[in-house]
Amino acid sequence: MSLISPEEINHIKESNDIVETISKRIELYPKGKNFFGVCPFHDDHSPSMSVSKEKQIYTCFSCGATGNVIKFIEDYENVSFMEALKILADQAGIPLSREMIQKKGNEKNEALYEIYDVSFKFYHNNINTALGKPAKEYLKQRDISEAILKEFGIGLALKKHDMLTKLLMNKKFDMNVLMKSGLVARNEHGYLDSYYNRIMFPLWDLTGKVVGFSGRTYHGEKDAPKYINSKESEIFKKGELLYNYHRAKEEARKENKVIIMEGFMDVIRAYTIGIKNVIAMMGTAVTREQALLIKRMAKEVILCFDGDKAGEKATLSCSEELLKVGVTPKIVHLEENLDPDEYIMKYGKERFLGKLENPLNVMDFKLSYFKKQKNLSSEQDVAKYVNDVLEELTKIDDEILRELTLQKVSEESRLEIGFLKEQLTTKKAPPKPTETKKQTDRKLNKYDKAQMYLLYYMLQSKEVIRLYNKKITFMPNEQYRNLAFHISYYYKLYGDINISSLIDQFEDNRDLIRTLGEIEQLNLKENYTIEEINDYFNAIKEYNVKNGQAELQKKLKEERDTKEKVRIANEILALKVRREENDK
Ligand code: UTP
Ligand code: MN
Repeated sequence: MSLISPEEINHIKESNDIVETISKRIELYPKGKNFFGVCPFHDDHSPSMSVSKEKQIYTCFSCGATGNVIKFIEDYENVSFMEALKILADQAGIPLSREMIQKKGNEKNEALYEIYDVSFKFYHNNINTALGKPAKEYLKQRDISEAILKEFGIGLALKKHDMLTKLLMNKKFDMNVLMKSGLVARNEHGYLDSYYNRIMFPLWDLTGKVVGFSGRTYHGEKDAPKYINSKESEIFKKGELLYNYHRAKEEARKENKVIIMEGFMDVIRAYTIGIKNVIAMMGTAVTREQALLIKRMAKEVILCFDGDKAGEKATLSCSEELLKVGVTPKIVHLEENLDPDEYIMKYGKERFLGKLENPLNVMDFKLSYFKKQKNLSSEQDVAKYVNDVLEELTKIDDEILRELTLQKVSEESRLEIGFLKEQLTTKKAPPKPTETKKQTDRKLNKYDKAQMYLLYYMLQSKEVIRLYNKKITFMPNEQYRNLAFHISYYYKLYGDINISSLIDQFEDNRDLIRTLGEIEQLNLKENYTIEEINDYFNAIKEYNVKNGQAELQKKLKEERDTKEKVRIANEILALKVRREENDK
């Protein structure tokens, strides 16, 4: 486990108010005793996440995400527990103990990370040697300065076929892991490098560790693919990463704006003119996971893809995925089929910044896209056009944008805006089925309620925990029983109850965290009476007795041995007596 003491963890936690920490990342609105915001952990469209200043926890009424300030940072920033602590310590200006600074991250894939680290250094060093001259010349010709080369860790795989493999084998890495890394391949003669004679662009994971490469040809080879990405591994999953994320995220947060491009050369070029809140997809369609990641980066999302047809298509599909998770992107369209890199090289910084300052809204982009394929002097095409636009409007959350678009389309088509609105409502999709999956909507019977309500008040009051301990209550539901056990245990250790620290004790037990969220969502009245609490205990007992009895009755029926039959019958009788005593 961690080298850091519970006291140190607590100190860091207490120095970071959860409302303040979360509101630095997403907008929170006060409502009653709590704060609410749009949940960053699922495709939320309205504020379902509640944050309690008093309890120092958050919980989402829709997806059930629950936790304290550390858990929030872990999930929001996609970092480990230790890294989350570092971020919070930093935020509160707390110096860290030396053990923490030295603590290494994910031990599980340590070898893979090391292989990538060694390879990264090797490639990066190559480009600065005599053999790297032509590659450097190529980069220079593309206006990539020494500083940028260093910043982005650009390197070179040499013409020899086994340089890296030899180096890695000398370092005694396990051959299986080397093969898994994708940097070493095998043919009939033995092991050899996967990459040779390519300029190597490192690819980082969300925390900034090198986990892959993309190698580019630079000799104008025609028959080879321009870029080759290293293969996916346990630490490199393309659909979960965004190029340059770790470098862009601070700036994106500061400006509350993030720019998305198609290629990493585009990102690097943007960087040279001072645009740092920029990331790239890596030649693949955006996944839901990436869309959620983008949603967490900033409120304003600008797509600046290549100006060609393929780029336009990619813009549409990326918008689609973003809209699904509740992000309404803005769009920059570049003329003459140029990509951002080419555009900046051709027209310069000022003009490109001007384009970024004036993005289209996503609906305007779609309107012009639809219009291009139609002839609006034909009524048939107008009808198609209006239909297409209405279809798109059903996906938009932004009411103002919807209204503005309807006005435009009404003018273009000379159809009354009222009519268009009617058409839109009939098109609108029925409410999402996910809503009905909410835990709280489940029909609860008396016994579920008794356990849940009891847990709710155990989480609030030492008195209720003491009662629970005294009555040795056996909760029938395993999840609830588990949670009750942890609450009771926490109380034994610390003589108190504190939900936010309790969560730390759960480590990564998702079931426990989910159950806690479910209980917290009950949002019951603050004060309880002892009578109510006793009612819960009695209901639980009643259930146990009944259940025990039913089981025994079943056994009795099946039992052949007479002696055993008598014993079971006696047991049933004893249960009955106990129950009657309880009822008194
Ligand atoms: P582009 O072909 O637009 O590359 O591919 P680019 O950014 O303009 O690169 P330069 O300027 O020619 O050097 C966009 C992205 O698609 C992926 C890469 O991630 C690239 O950044 N791609 C492209 C590949 O994976 N393989 C390829 O062969 C080409
Ligand atoms: Mn390019």
